[in-house]
Amino acid sequence: MALELVRETIHADMQAVDGVIRARLHSEVALIRQISEYIINSGGKRLRPVLVLLSSGVFGYQGVWHHELAAVVEFIHTATLLHDDVVDESSLRRGNATANALFGNAASVLVGDFLYSRAFQMMVGVNNMRVMEVLSEATNVIAEGEVLQLLNCNDADIDEESYLKVIRYKTAKLFEAAARLGAILGGSGESDEAAMAEYGMRLGTAFQLIDDVLDYSGDHNETGKNVGDDLAEGKPTLPLLYAMKHGTPEQAALIRGAIENGGLEEFGPVLAAIGETGALEYTRQQAQKEIDAACAAISHLPHSKHKDSLLELATFSVARSY
Ligand code: IPE
Ligand code: IPE
Ligand code: MG
Ligand code: MG
Repeated sequence: MALELVRETIHADMQAVDGVIRARLHSEVALIRQISEYIINSGGKRLRPVLVLLSSGVFGYQGVWHHELAAVVEFIHTATLLHDDVVDESSLRRGNATANALFGNAASVLVGDFLYSRAFQMMVGVNNMRVMEVLSEATNVIAEGEVLQLLNCNDADIDEESYLKVIRYKTAKLFEAAARLGAILGGSGESDEAAMAEYGMRLGTAFQLIDDVLDYSGDHNETGKNVGDDLAEGKPTLPLLYAMKHGTPEQAALIRGAIENGGLEEFGPVLAAIGETGALEYTRQQAQKEIDAACAAISHLPHSKHKDSLLELATFSVARSY
C-alpha cells in the first residue's frame, strides 16, 4: 500500500514524532489526558506530520525541530477534528466513538482548545518567526473556513468556487503550512518554499475532494467514519452540487430539498442521483487535476527518496479508500 511505503522512508522520524506527541499531551488535568490520549491513540493517518518530515528531508534539514513541528501540525489537526465532530454531530471517528459522543460536546470543545494552545506553546519553543507566521496564519484561515462552511450549510445555491474556497481554507491550508515548514527549516529559499506551498495546497484540496467522495461511497470499516454525515448536515459538497446541476429536474429538486433540510431521509434517492449523474467520477477528476498540479509544482526539485514519497503521497490522496 502506497501510504505504508511512504511512511517506511521516514520510519525513525515518525517514531520520534510519536514520542514528542506522547510527551506533549501531558497535563495535570486528568480529563484532558484522557480525551486527548483517546483521540490520538485511536490512530489516524498522520499525513500532516508525514508532510513536514518529507518536506524537511527534501531540503536536507539536519536538526531536530521537524519532529516538534510535525507534532504541532498533528495537534492542530486533532483540535480541528474535536471541534468539527461537535459541529457536524458526528458519532464515529477513526473507527471509534467520537470524543463528543463519549465525553460530550463541552469536553470536546475544551480539550480541542487545550490542543490548539499546546501546539502554540510548542511552536513558540521553536523560536522561528517565519514558522510562527505560517502556523498562526494557517490556524486562523482554518477557523475562517469552518465558519464559512457553517454559513454555506443548507444553502443549495452555493457555487463550485465557494465550495472550493471552503475546502482550501478548512483543510488544504494546514497541508500547505506543513509542506512549507520543512522548506523553512531546510532553508529552501523563497521560490522553493512557494513551490512546496503550492504542492501542499493542491494536495490538501484533492484530499478533501476525495473525503467528500468517501462521505457518499466509503466503507466505514475503512474510513473509520460514518457515510452520510455531510448530507445529514445539509453540507453542499461537490458531489451534491454536480448531481443537482446535471440531474433531471426531479433529481435537482430532490437534492435541493436534501441540502436545505438536512437529515438522511432521502439518502437512498440522493445516492442514486449521484450515481446516475457521475458526480463522484467528476469529483475524483477534479481531485486528479489538483494532484497533477501538485506534482508539477515540485517537478523541478532534485531527485531524492523524500521527493519520490511526496509524489507517492499525491497518488495515495486520490486513490485512497480511507
Ligand atoms: C480528516 O482528516 C479531516 C479532513 C480534512 C478530511 P484525515 O483523513 O487526515 O484524518 P485522520 O487523521 O487520518 O483520522
Ligand atoms: C474536514 O471536513 C474538517 C476539518 C478540516 C477539521 P469534514 O467535516 O469533511 O471532515 P470529516 O469528514 O469529519 O473527517
Ligand atoms: Mg466532519
Ligand atoms: Mg468529511
